[in-house]
Amino acid sequence: MAAEQVRLDRALRYGMVGGGPGAFIGDVHRRAIALDPNTTLVSGVFSRNHESSMETARALLIDGARVYRDYREMATAEAARDDGIDFVVIVTPNVSHFEIAKAFLEAGIHVVCDKPLTTKLEDAEELGRLVKSTDLLFGVTYTYTGYPTVKYARELIRSGALGPVRFVNAEYPQEWLSQPAEQDEGNRQAGWRTDPAQSGASNCVGDIGTHVENMVSYVTGLEIDSLAARLDSFVSGRKLDDNATIMVNYRGGATGVYWSSQVAIGYDNALRVRVFAEKGAVEFAQEDPNYLRVTMLDAPKQLISRGRDSLGSRGDSLIRIPAGHPEGYFEAFANIYKTFTGALRKRLAGAKLDEVDLDFPSVNDGIQGVRFVTRVVESSQRKSAWVNF
Ligand SMILES: NC(=O)c1ccc[n+]([C@@H]2O[C@H](COP(=O)([O-])OP(=O)(O)OC[C@H]3O[C@@H](n4cnc5c(N)ncnc54)[C@H](O)[C@@H]3O)[C@@H](O)[C@H]2O)c1
Repeated sequence: MAAEQVRLDRALRYGMVGGGPGAFIGDVHRRAIALDPNTTLVSGVFSRNHESSMETARALLIDGARVYRDYREMATAEAARDDGIDFVVIVTPNVSHFEIAKAFLEAGIHVVCDKPLTTKLEDAEELGRLVKSTDLLFGVTYTYTGYPTVKYARELIRSGALGPVRFVNAEYPQEWLSQPAEQDEGNRQAGWRTDPAQSGASNCVGDIGTHVENMVSYVTGLEIDSLAARLDSFVSGRKLDDNATIMVNYRGGATGVYWSSQVAIGYDNALRVRVFAEKGAVEFAQEDPNYLRVTMLDAPKQLISRGRDSLGSRGDSLIRIPAGHPEGYFEAFANIYKTFTGALRKRLAGAKLDEVDLDFPSVNDGIQGVRFVTRVVESSQRKSAWVNF
């Protein structure tokens, strides 16, 4: 199809569930979407409390008639409008993702949902089946895969330049739950994450260990064959894990070690992935995302700079500003949305989507993430026994 035929000559309209007053990630999604033109927030249920929801709508100048009392009403009403939303963004605590995503898919509306996709594996798999049968687009915001340097790390490994991967060492340490922050009433993010009824069977792995799994899978293409895990809950009275140590066997013989922690004093969002292959190694650090460390055997270490050195065609296509002007978390988020909304525009204009169009985390990545959390919990409960993936 010729390029001019795949152009949608109107802005995309989206709605949001979650992201009310004092919420964390909903606002990040809105700002990231707004980094690129022509995708407009027009509807929402920003909180379970309608007055709080209206407060957010007023602050964002959203028509009050399109702010609903709950997500079911929103899905039905928006699906019935000629100018209804093209997609919904789900940014509520983990336990509600499944029901909300299901309601919008059943209403025929495309979905972006934050991670972890669901709290139960069977629910994630049901969403997978629904996505298949409805043929709707479904994105899961595994944010960190949006960095151009990560795209390049993936391309390097896929090209075979580093040879077969032998070992992966990946970690995501934070310190913010090293005290019982959940007992502080004002800290709602700590409150729900450490509550099994809202977070699921894991806190630390569901919240940040899942990013480790997704990043390694995306960068290396390795598939987990089996794993053995140990979950710790170091803070007294905490019902869920706040530290996780995981050994991994991949299909094909490579192995890995993952660590995620919320009691790692001195660390903020220090996601780091190191991949050691037969001819070289690559290292990405989320807190220094404009640079990628690449080392070939018997050669000096290289520091690849975003914007100065080539990051391959995909990586370079996502760069927004010249080298030395740092890009960060918002841009990584925005790159996921840029890809998702680009695919949706093409889809709505009747064009076919190719592999690059679909280079955003999918429902299958979401299912794999939930399988990872499930297997880690299973192994830990069985005294760190090896479990098949
Ligand atoms: N991708 C990332 O990097 C990233 C980062 C942080 C959080 N997250 C994920 O985002 C989700 C939200 O996390 P958060 O830290 O923003 O939580 P939060 O507690 O700050 O915000 C949740 C919001 O959802 C609203 N809400 C809850 N239930 C609702 C419902 N049924 N209908 C409408 N609104 C409802 C709450 O009122 C609140 O406004 C979680 O699943 C979390 O794992 C992802």
